[in-house]
Amino acid sequence: MSHHAEPEALAGVTIRPMHETDAAQVLDIYQTGLDAGNASFETTAPTWHTFDTAKLRLHRHVAVDTSTGQVIGWVAASAVSDRCVYAGVVEHSVYVHPDHHGRGVGIALLNALIQSTETEGVWTIQSGIFPENTASLRLHEKAGFRVVGTRRHLGRHYDRWRDVVLIERRSTITGV
Ligand SMILES: CC(C)(COP(=O)(O)OP(=O)(O)OC[C@H]1O[C@@H](n2cnc3c(N)ncnc32)[C@H](O)[C@@H]1OP(=O)(O)O)[C@@H](O)C(=O)NCCC(=O)NCCS
Repeated sequence: MSHHAEPEALAGVTIRPMHETDAAQVLDIYQTGLDAGNASFETTAPTWHTFDTAKLRLHRHVAVDTSTGQVIGWVAASAVSDRCVYAGVVEHSVYVHPDHHGRGVGIALLNALIQSTETEGVWTIQSGIFPENTASLRLHEKAGFRVVGTRRHLGRHYDRWRDVVLIERRSTITGV
């Protein structure tokens, strides 16, 4: 497969744009990921209104079970700043239902995000990952992200200060 070809299809899974009718399933998967304790500083998933307002429309994708249509994972990105110079910089989140971890859904979602953002002229995708979240660190490394560095005791999560690994993927085709 050439470098910029369509991502390889994943058997039994379809990646498609996120719709409002996916809201309940998306927020459920979000809450399940937060409850596991290593996904984010957030402890409660936002309302659909908050999510919908923050996340860029063209850069929200869901993975669905092709036969049942059930949502099994999602990825979404928001703008990091409204300053012009950062117009091509977004921050993303990716969550896969625990029953479907380890089958390539996360990488398929990241590939969809990389494709939609590069198409729209985004040059940097970034995120923060807790150092304990080795699955996410490996997933992002595999998707072409690099570690910028580790931010020390960046915020409090429940009753402890936690470090955050800042990661980024700089496009080699957009804004080079
Ligand atoms: C992180 C997460 C999205 C990974 O999704 P996933 O669908 O299980 O990942 P994939 O099956 O696509 O795995 C892709 C690669 O990631 C790495 N990876 C995934 N799970 C891993 C694990 N438990 N341990 C180590 N590496 C892992 C592997 O390198 C894997 O590639 P390989 O199977 O060829 O070795 C998922 O664990 C999740 O939803 N966690 C809870 C929410 C969260 O933490 N989100 C990220 C916030 S920064």
